[in-house]
Amino acid sequence: MKRALSSMFVAGSLVLAGAIPGLVQAQEAAQKPDVKAGEQLYTHGDAARGVLACIACHGAAGNSTISANPNLAAMPHEYIVKQLQDFQAKGKTPPSRTGAGGAPTIMSSIAANLTPQDMQNVALYLSHQQLDWDKAGTATHPATVPLGQHIWRAGIADRNVPACAACHSANGAGLPAEFPRLAGQHPEYILEQLKLFRSGDRKNSIMHAIADRMTDPDLAAVADYAAGLR
Ligand code: HEC
Ligand code: HEC
Repeated sequence: MKRALSSMFVAGSLVLAGAIPGLVQAQEAAQKPDVKAGEQLYTHGDAARGVLACIACHGAAGNSTISANPNLAAMPHEYIVKQLQDFQAKGKTPPSRTGAGGAPTIMSSIAANLTPQDMQNVALYLSHQQLDWDKAGTATHPATVPLGQHIWRAGIADRNVPACAACHSANGAGLPAEFPRLAGQHPEYILEQLKLFRSGDRKNSIMHAIADRMTDPDLAAVADYAAGLR
């Protein structure tokens, strides 16, 4: 019965769509991410819609050289889409990703003007870019490497902190679709995000539970270590 019902729906929508060719095109466009359109938006923005060019802050092909602005090259497509959605308010529900104390971040106003199609396009473009290791972030605190490495590989057993490597992969490359790359990210950005997970201003239950059990020195050590992974 279920099957018959759903095939009726399919048949019905085909008839409808067949009658309105423009609608078919619009539907197809809304489904298939367009890497060229993503590159265009990333590089030039869209002044008519008030979308700033991403390149101004996130660098050529997603290789940001400014430590407060994350590099985005080679991030998983789905992860980027989710973040852009998280920066947007949903009706009366506030964004699930904000700055400290729930304040808007720079991205709040930018993401507000993006359509679901924009997000798909730009995310596909970014996921296809290579991280430029010469411009990437790296570890700068040799003294905390042992602690950072221990947390990365083994977690903190007596506080139930799992090994970061379990999800973000041993070399920090991340894992499609949901685990972001941390290797080569700017350590200042990583540390800031860990604090936002801990405070709950960036809502994510897995990362909140993890960061909540960590001290400031733990977070600083593992942020620096993760950035230096290759
Ligand atoms: C004026 C500078 C600026 C511009 C322009 C900008 N961003 Fe951002 N972006 C930031 C900053 C700063 C952050 C860190 C967010 C935070 O502090 O919460 C960020 C974060 C992000 C993230 C989250 C990355 C992660 O690892 O979780 C994505 C995705 C993103 N930006 C995409 C874009 C896209 C797509 C555009 C263009 C449509 C864009 N940004 C334009 C500054 C900018
Ligand atoms: C059980 C899986 C899991 C483990 C273990 C884990 N993470 Fe995550 N991490 C995630 C997920 C899922 C996200 C994406 C969160 C979101 O969508 O906002 C994430 C996001 C992050 C981000 C944000 C990256 C960005 O680009 O903004 C940082 C930083 C991070 N994790 C660091 C760590 C560190 C450090 C550890 C170890 C102490 C760790 N994670 C352990 C699953 C995990």
